[in-house]
Amino acid sequence: MDLGLSQRVALVAAASKGLGRAVATELSREGARVAICARNSADLARTAAEISSATGREVFHQALDVTDPDAVAAFVAAVENRFGRLDICVTNSGGPPSKLFKDTNPADWKSAVDLLLMSTVFFAKEALPRMQKNKWGRFITITSYTVKQPVDGLLLSNSVRAAVTGLARTLANEYAPDGITVNNVCPGYTRTERLSELTEVLSVRHGITEQEVVAGWERQIPAGRLGTPEEFAAVVAFLASERASYVNGVSLAIDGGIVRSLL
Ligand SMILES: NC(=O)c1ccc[n+]([C@@H]2O[C@H](COP(=O)([O-])OP(=O)(O)OC[C@H]3O[C@@H](n4cnc5c(N)ncnc54)[C@H](OP(=O)(O)O)[C@@H]3O)[C@@H](O)[C@H]2O)c1
Repeated sequence: MDLGLSQRVALVAAASKGLGRAVATELSREGARVAICARNSADLARTAAEISSATGREVFHQALDVTDPDAVAAFVAAVENRFGRLDICVTNSGGPPSKLFKDTNPADWKSAVDLLLMSTVFFAKEALPRMQKNKWGRFITITSYTVKQPVDGLLLSNSVRAAVTGLARTLANEYAPDGITVNNVCPGYTRTERLSELTEVLSVRHGITEQEVVAGWERQIPAGRLGTPEEFAAVVAFLASERASYVNGVSLAIDGGIVRSLL
């Protein structure tokens, strides 16, 4: 299937590692000109060079923290200057720490809101008006399957990602007349550094081995295994494509079937 991405310009946030990196790689492989950001500039530059050498296409990169609105604005402007337009914006960030409610304080809540919700608002503010100019756009938010089925101990994620989902669903209505779709993708357990960190935290918290933590997840997943970043990225690339023009306002789980609900 031709995804029609060869003339497109895509920005993928928080993309030096994990899911963001896999999405950037897939979009570049499909022919898009890609821009990525993350905080650590050395990791970011290495990732940009590796993607570029794997796909033969330019990958623009700029180090920044997605919680900084001025830095996000400067990055989106730099992408437009470099490539002349912006067609696809995939929002992403690191995840908040895994905590129980009794262990959270107001600063934890504020930083989760900044990291997950406000970062998405900052990218939306910058990206959507640029897409409107071309009457075409794909705005895709990466959240988590926890927006469909909250997970014990991921309190901050369960709570704040629901707000991101509400934002995306509302933007989908507001921007559809401009040829822009807004969709949310909800990864299940996918093998990345973030998941290794979570495995370690849960192993200590429950006094079991990391292998037992993973085996516990695998028992809950109908597919019987964790996902790969590449499996996740393939679905995001489809949603970013010409072919997904009539998919708007969905929250799509890419989770091996772990979400048990009908919708
Ligand atoms: N993997 C899973 O199973 C899974 C499941 C559900 C949801 N998620 C969520 O999906 C998102 C991505 O997860 P992942 O597994 O790909 O994580 P990861 O492997 O830890 O990668 C996170 C990426 O985000 C960047 N980043 C983190 N905080 C940032 C910030 N404030 N500003 C800019 N860049 C930032 C990191 O680079 P720097 O550190 O250099 O900034 C890195 O490139 C997270 O929110 C995670 O909670 C993951």
